[in-house]
Amino acid sequence: MIIATTVAEVREHVQSWKMNGLSIGLVPTMGFLHEGHASLMERATRECDRVVVSIFVNPIQFGPTEDLESYPRDFESDSALCAEKGVALVFHPEATEMYAPDFCTYVDMDRVTKTLCGASRPTHFRGVCTVVSKLINITKPDRSYFGQKDAQQLAVVRRMVRDLDMDVEIIGCPIVRETDGLAKSSRNTYLRPEERIAALVLSRALGAGRQMVAEGGRDSNEILSVMRSVIDTEPLARIDYVEIVDGVSMQPIESVNTGTLIAMAVYIGRTRLIDNFIVGE
Ligand code: PAJ
Repeated sequence: MIIATTVAEVREHVQSWKMNGLSIGLVPTMGFLHEGHASLMERATRECDRVVVSIFVNPIQFGPTEDLESYPRDFESDSALCAEKGVALVFHPEATEMYAPDFCTYVDMDRVTKTLCGASRPTHFRGVCTVVSKLINITKPDRSYFGQKDAQQLAVVRRMVRDLDMDVEIIGCPIVRETDGLAKSSRNTYLRPEERIAALVLSRALGAGRQMVAEGGRDSNEILSVMRSVIDTEPLARIDYVEIVDGVSMQPIESVNTGTLIAMAVYIGRTRLIDNFIVGE
């Protein structure tokens, strides 16, 4: 497995693969890899001749009061997992390699980025769109893989690729969970033992919403109020948002349908966790 730290090195390998007619899959990550990331790599290695995993804690997608400094990092164990999964190249650049001191070009998006996580993290998706564009330009993948765990990110990337005519297929992959239901996340390591237990309130609230829909419930406000009341039973939990939105536009809708996204962000202590499900999936 190749470990590359510069754009030029990645380009060299990508170019020779392309010349040999090999297909390329890209899995963008911020590292501290877990089974959620592994599921993306497994799908990518099944579908592509060469898989590139980027491991880059992208500073421009963090707000000024967010966890950029404390974001967990473990490059050694990450690269071991990538090697085990059959990844061809790990791209692990320094921030200075990705952002020149006079960097000033950003990819930004209206509407789809203004609700849910975008409402509480106003510059987040500009950072995501910019770095994902750069990674696509650097690695020229046939396909790029994203988790449904970050449902709005997946919708935003799909929209960006369509709107800007990027020549890459975006593949969404299902949420991987711990056996007790908590969605896997690099940020779960922040949770103290009592918070780890409290964090189960997210999947419990989603379960309550899912059950209402299964029983024929369609009214968004009714479903949301039950889900919020489940979260309110947990003293360590504080709701950032619980929303029901159209699965493509990310705009609130009054009545749920197949493809509707039911999503939440909840603080457990100081740790912000997200989770969601799509109606009919
Ligand atoms: P990161 O949080 O490291 O996630 C990388 C990819 O793994 C994302 O597509 C995310 O949705 C997926 N993922 C994370 N947890 C998952 C889970 N439990 N099940 C399935 N997939 C999961 O998302 C980012 O990094 C960054 O914003 C990035 C796209 C790399 C841009 O910097």
